[in-house]
Amino acid sequence: MALDEIAAACGTPCYVYSARGILNRYQAYDEAFGRTPHLVCYAVKANSNLSLLRLLAHAGAGFDIVSGGELFRVLQAGGTPSKIVFSGVGKTSDEIEYALNCRIHSFNCESEPELALINELALKRGLRARVALRVNPDVDAATHPYISTGLRDNKFGVDIADAERVYEYAQSLPGLAPESVSCHIGSQLLDAAPLMEAVDRMVALAGRLQKRGLPIRNLDLGGGLGIAYQPGQSTPLIAAFIEEMKQRVSELGLTIMIEPGRSLVGECGVLLSRVIHRKKNSVKEFVVLDAAMNDLLRPALYQAHHEILPVTQSSRPLMTADIVGPVCETGDFLAKGRTVPELEAGELVAVMSAGAYGFVMSSNYNSRPRVAEVLVEDNRWRIVRQREKFEDLVRGE
Ligand code: LLP
Repeated sequence: MALDEIAAACGTPCYVYSARGILNRYQAYDEAFGRTPHLVCYAVKANSNLSLLRLLAHAGAGFDIVSGGELFRVLQAGGTPSKIVFSGVGKTSDEIEYALNCRIHSFNCESEPELALINELALKRGLRARVALRVNPDVDAATHPYISTGLRDNKFGVDIADAERVYEYAQSLPGLAPESVSCHIGSQLLDAAPLMEAVDRMVALAGRLQKRGLPIRNLDLGGGLGIAYQPGQSTPLIAAFIEEMKQRVSELGLTIMIEPGRSLVGECGVLLSRVIHRKKNSVKEFVVLDAAMNDLLRPALYQAHHEILPVTQSSRPLMTADIVGPVCETGDFLAKGRTVPELEAGELVAVMSAGAYGFVMSSNYNSRPRVAEVLVEDNRWRIVRQREKFEDLVRGE
């Protein structure tokens, strides 16, 4: 699909996603599990556009949600409640009630007070809520500190050393059915080894819990598989990754659940932007784009690398520049000291691998309307979220 056609029709900046790319990755997960009982729960936080959720729901995916808002989106998109898991360190009573009323699959719980709260709300409805404890296996995911979650000093989960005691507590509460064990050690993992280490610890724990008589049926191993943001970066392949996971889990008769986000959608989206102008000072050159940190926060927040390519390929000299947006912050950059083909004012660039944690983390900072989102399906494209108007900026004020 020609990106310049899309830009001409719907303006820039805009996110453009590939439906085929997303479905291929979902199928790679699903097929790698084969006959092993499994549930692939897409982590909605990575990209929660209704049209993407609808695609995945039709393909049979489950969903991992972290808020009432995400639950609402999944239901709007036709997601099946019995395939939804609810994660997150601070679910409110309202959110828990909403999820109980919808009869979701289970809650991934992160503390004893949370277990007590879910128990109380379930009993009021005469229900037994299926729960997992999110266990912190204390392995170092070796990723950016802001997206590493499996170490003891993170806010997430229950220490593995404490897990058996907390499971006994959950088992003692009549409104809970502790049927699953869950973990998630971090995101953008480029090496599968720490995850496999966590899998081994989780399998051992599930075995110990079963011996104590707990009805453990599911093992939820979270998300985290990384993608190649830089050319030549190597990442574990979905099929090999799942194969290794399967081998480690066999025997206990558990259903394997996973919660991939980035690896399903990250590489299937670009942020399309236009160069406003170039500007030089005594020490450097800047390329000023119409997209900024409010549209794609990852470079500013995590020093993340996204390739930036001219949409029209031609042989031209290279330049080194900071590629920045119009927002009034020094932290507003999409790339620093980047060598790219010489870019001209007015031309289009594609910020690559922006399908995950792109639009969803965008804001109206500097009163910039949030951008449009476009979905490419087969040889057609359509707008799946309208660009915001100025009126949208002041709605509710
Ligand atoms: N499950 C749980 C409980 C999670 O916390 C996350 C991500 C996932 C699954 C999905 O992980 P993935 O497969 O996407 O790695 N905004 C950051 C990423 C934050 C990830 C938070 N949790 C970024 O832009 O890199």
